[in-house]
Amino acid sequence: MPQTEPVNVSPEFKSDLALEAKGLTRRFGGLIAVNDVSFTVNKGEIFGLIGPNGAGKTTFFNLITGLIPPSNGQMLYQGTEISRLRPHQVATKGIARTFQNIRLFGNLSALENVMIAQHVHSRSGVFTGVLGLPPAPQEERTIRQRGMELLELVGLSDRADEPAQNFAYGNQRRLEIARALALQPQVLLLDEPAAGMNPNEKHQLSDFIRQIRDQFNLTILLIEHHVPLVMGLCDRIAVLDFGQLIALGEPAQVRTDPAVIEAYLGAE
Ligand SMILES: Nc1ncnc2c1ncn2[C@@H]1O[C@H](COP(=O)(O)OP(=O)(O)OP(=O)(O)O)[C@@H](O)[C@H]1O
Ligand SMILES: [Mg+2]
Repeated sequence: MPQTEPVNVSPEFKSDLALEAKGLTRRFGGLIAVNDVSFTVNKGEIFGLIGPNGAGKTTFFNLITGLIPPSNGQMLYQGTEISRLRPHQVATKGIARTFQNIRLFGNLSALENVMIAQHVHSRSGVFTGVLGLPPAPQEERTIRQRGMELLELVGLSDRADEPAQNFAYGNQRRLEIARALALQPQVLLLDEPAAGMNPNEKHQLSDFIRQIRDQFNLTILLIEHHVPLVMGLCDRIAVLDFGQLIALGEPAQVRTDPAVIEAYLGAE
């Protein structure tokens, strides 16, 4: 019988867990950006990560996605250690993200940005996409069609051929979500997706995030400063302050936590 299970699954792994941080720590010289953080994220959860500027939220995403290695500790994905993998390896395992500082190919069209991401899963491979070599025609058609479906989903299909740099901030963020979904992830990390959106767009984004969670069976981690959005959307919230986890729980719990009010929310 072929062995299908990875051998390094931790013995205490529970199948309802998507992610597990264990004593995760990242130092930059003398600064401890993420300090001994441990918590779990359940499959299917919309999980918020909040805290003041410089608290270590983006660094935490960078640790999950292999952009930087941890100084100490582990990040487990479905029971398997991922924190020392390369970013493309993490992506092929099913973890996709958007960036606080948007990273689109500005001179490529919206559709091309989404199509390139799909090449990770295509037979021709990612390098064909990056080098601009054409994949097999049938595959190209499928990728294009899927790209258009994703643009439709984020409300940008009528602007598929426009360069990404022409898009307003909010639309660029939507396009980044489409590109992340093109990787067919199981876990989606969103770093401040509502930044640059007006109140109406923020409200729509909230509904949209719930919709894609349900439609694609996603687990979603969300970094966001807009407190009403986070409180209304997330099943649970973790609060970081100076790299440390100072609170973890359901929105109602976190909102009234004195340490969170002191560090982040302020007296309302
Ligand atoms: N590559 C790096 N080199 C050195 N210091 C870094 C690096 N990346 C982050 N830092 C520092 O680590 C700390 C945490 O930064 P991080 O970007 O994770 O915060 P954040 O919670 O995402 O903040 P914000 O809400 O402003 O986006 C900050 O003090 C930051 O200056
Ligand atoms: Mg950040």
